[in-house]
Amino acid sequence: MSEIKQILEKENLDKENMIRILSAKDKDDIELIRKKAYSIMKKNCGEKVYYRGLLEFSNICVNDCYYCGIRKSNKEANRFLLTKNEIIKIAVWCAEQGYASIVLQSGERKDKEFIDFVENVLNIIKEKTISKTLPYGLGITLCVGEQDYDTYLRFFKAGAHRYLLRIETTSPRLFKELHPENQTLNSRKKCLQMLKKIGYQVGTGVMIGIPGQTIGDLADDIIFFKEQDIDMIGMGPYIVHQQTPMQKYEQEMEQRKDDVFNLSMKMIAAVRLVLKDVNIAATTALQAMNPIGREKGLRFGANVVMPLVTPSGVRKDYQLYEDKPCVDEQASQCRECLLNRIKGLNREVGFNEWGDSKHFFNRK
Ligand code: 5AD
Repeated sequence: MSEIKQILEKENLDKENMIRILSAKDKDDIELIRKKAYSIMKKNCGEKVYYRGLLEFSNICVNDCYYCGIRKSNKEANRFLLTKNEIIKIAVWCAEQGYASIVLQSGERKDKEFIDFVENVLNIIKEKTISKTLPYGLGITLCVGEQDYDTYLRFFKAGAHRYLLRIETTSPRLFKELHPENQTLNSRKKCLQMLKKIGYQVGTGVMIGIPGQTIGDLADDIIFFKEQDIDMIGMGPYIVHQQTPMQKYEQEMEQRKDDVFNLSMKMIAAVRLVLKDVNIAATTALQAMNPIGREKGLRFGANVVMPLVTPSGVRKDYQLYEDKPCVDEQASQCRECLLNRIKGLNREVGFNEWGDSKHFFNRK
């Protein structure tokens, strides 16, 4: 029996096993990994794909992450903040489409005006989207970065029940290389713990293929997800953005493109094999790298996709990385396009269902 086959038969994988999976090169081995990850997903979460309409409502950011296109030092980014009414209108549209959940994502701001704004928007979205089909209104995932405990609590009380905060990498060395000194790995970890304590379904994730990142680092990331009892995972390939200090890696990343994409697939599968009942998103960055990247992610064990619902006019201004797909499309076009892609996989969309992380209920 091949080594991979033996590993895949184990109930619990150790770091060495994860490294073997992540470094698999043989096509047959990779197909075995994919199949096993898919069957674990099917057994623990079912085969449905759940939608979260992704609304990028502001690119104003106080942080200066070296990899990110909307970092505060990027003077070429055209900054925007959607109005309350624009956001609410889009949220209502999502509910009408049967999306059932929305992700409100923005650059990080900690000022009172912003926090009041978000809280108010959450309250109104909840109020406006309760219906017969959605008795608890639209499911809301918030993704507005590091905040203090009281702020997280206010957002939770206003109706956000899931929160996404990527750890980006759990390697202290890499985290330092990617962020200015005012941002620390420890502070992110503390935020994740606060979110959990408040009662959110907690999501995190990492970037895959960061220059200097090893397979061992990624295995450690998975172990971190497991130790922290994380409910939802969103990971994607690191992609260079020209207007960032990491632009210097452009050539290197171009050469590694296929490897990084394939590694992203193995990473999704490995996370599924280890964490089993969590929700895993096939992220937009996968599609920036490969025209059918998100579908592939779903075949490797992901069960959530995030159709973009950001208004067309500002999509180009919310570029965290280059080659962001669907920049010239409208939300209704993304709806049709994605639906056809998922049908092509013979999977059903869980319309009008929140599709919460099974892990959240299993750990409670
Ligand atoms: N490539 C890939 N992902 C990126 N993100 C930010 N910049 C990039 C990039 N250049 C991701 C980060 C962040 C999420 C919202 O987007 O992981 O948490």
